[in-house]
Amino acid sequence: MSIRVTFNSHTHQTETMGVPLKRTLTKLFRFAIVGVVLAIALQTYLRQRQEYFYSGNDIVKHIPTENRHETFQEPEENSNATLWQLMLQDPTITEFVKLNTPFGDINGPLDDPSQIWTLYVPIDSAYKDALHPTDAPPFYWKFLSLNHFGSGAVSYDDMLASTTTTVESRIPHDIFFNYRQRISVKNQKGEIAFNHVGKYVGKQLKAVNGYVHHISTTLYLPDSTSEVIRDNPSFETFRRGLIFTNVGVKVNDTQRHTSQTIFAPSNIAFKKLGLKANKFLFSPWGKPYLAALLRNHVVENRTLFTDMYLQAKGAGKIGLNTTSEPIRLPTMNSGVDLETSIVLNENRQSIRLNDKTVASDPDIITMDGVIHKIDELLLPPSLGDYLDGVGHGIDLDHRSSGSAWYNFRWPWNAPSSEISVDELMERLQPLVEKGEVS
Ligand SMILES: *[C@@H]1O[C@H](CO)[C@@H](O)[C@H](O)[C@H]1NC(C)=O
Ligand SMILES: *[C@@H]1O[C@H](CO)[C@@H](O)[C@H](O)[C@H]1NC(C)=O
Ligand SMILES: *[C@@H]1O[C@H](CO)[C@@H](O)[C@H](O)[C@H]1NC(C)=O
Ligand SMILES: *[C@@H]1O[C@H](CO)[C@@H](O)[C@H](O)[C@H]1NC(C)=O
Repeated sequence: MSIRVTFNSHTHQTETMGVPLKRTLTKLFRFAIVGVVLAIALQTYLRQRQEYFYSGNDIVKHIPTENRHETFQEPEENSNATLWQLMLQDPTITEFVKLNTPFGDINGPLDDPSQIWTLYVPIDSAYKDALHPTDAPPFYWKFLSLNHFGSGAVSYDDMLASTTTTVESRIPHDIFFNYRQRISVKNQKGEIAFNHVGKYVGKQLKAVNGYVHHISTTLYLPDSTSEVIRDNPSFETFRRGLIFTNVGVKVNDTQRHTSQTIFAPSNIAFKKLGLKANKFLFSPWGKPYLAALLRNHVVENRTLFTDMYLQAKGAGKIGLNTTSEPIRLPTMNSGVDLETSIVLNENRQSIRLNDKTVASDPDIITMDGVIHKIDELLLPPSLGDYLDGVGHGIDLDHRSSGSAWYNFRWPWNAPSSEISVDELMERLQPLVEKGEVS
């Protein structure tokens, strides 16, 4: 754009004003230098930004550096006190205690030595900073409190283990109350984050009937799938696709499913397909193919976390670890299943799809299910793959994040990363629903 403008002014000037060509070239040269400097600066900025989103650093960012491990206190062994008794004595969590004092069905069980619970209690300052409705009805506070604890004993050491990636809360996970909602637990370089926002266990109290952990912020009730997708910039392309194809209507509709598991492709995943493929998918002709592709990423009525599987129709929950049998999940494309297995990724359990794609940011909890971020699209295999006996989609591994424009590579250096429109159509054709192509 800037070149054309300069060129125009150059012809304009030489013809009508007679400005020497040399001066114009000098100007052009200056423009070029400024342009290069700006481009490098922008490139560096965007790279950092990408890494920032990519590595989930937004989670680590807000952790106060003081109070990290210094405040972690070993529990006092042999305490006979119940959870509720210990909490009443603790001067740092008076707000949480005050909120729950009126609720006998909350503090009663916590005071019962025969019931084992684990609490993730926001310290008093969490309530000062938090945005709560000023005129919230009591059940708001009750529900919020129920999102901060679950049954069973989970110690600080348990949370550091690679096998603990989610823990139970007391709010319902599905409309039939078959399951409890879960809270994601991420251990990032020794720091523990709950649902990406509630940070660090500052202190652990051990009671006769479980543990109390101190956390820095309130754990809000999870947002709906559509809100989570809207609010996460790395799902922008995915969201555009959901709206464009109307697949989003089903994904958004919390009446339609009891829960859902979404393997949400990041913007990076779409970029890996290349510009041509993306242009096609987001064109009126490509729309049915994009719809088919997106349906491949959505599983209805089943919730698969990285350490727990909530089966369809309340058929029970199954704890998972790396030795568990793979689980096949039916996608919204009837007849197409995803094969999922639990693997270790950066020393935490994650989900691997079709023996290939590992979720880069798993267990993003939503009100109506869970989202796992993936950085490559789940394409059906090509005929060639079937013949090779691969059968698990194309190998996108070598493609890296090279297709973003700011990751420019010289042509002789460029990976052959892009998929042709023909191949894309051929692979997705079997999944395109009748009537979708006019
Ligand atoms: C716990 O209870 C036992 C008897 O029930 C008592 O002997 C002991 O001193 C108590 N320990 C503490 C730390 O309170
Ligand atoms: C789904 O919800 C999101 C976020 O609320 C919204 O932006 C989008 O338009 C909705 N899509 C459809 C297809 O209803
Ligand atoms: C999911 O569950 C709902 C409610 O039970 C049901 O209406 C719907 O048909 C189910 N969807 C699938 C794909 O099984
Ligand atoms: C996985 O779970 C099984 C059954 O609960 C258990 O026996 C096994 O030790 C676990 N393996 C790991 C690696 O945690």
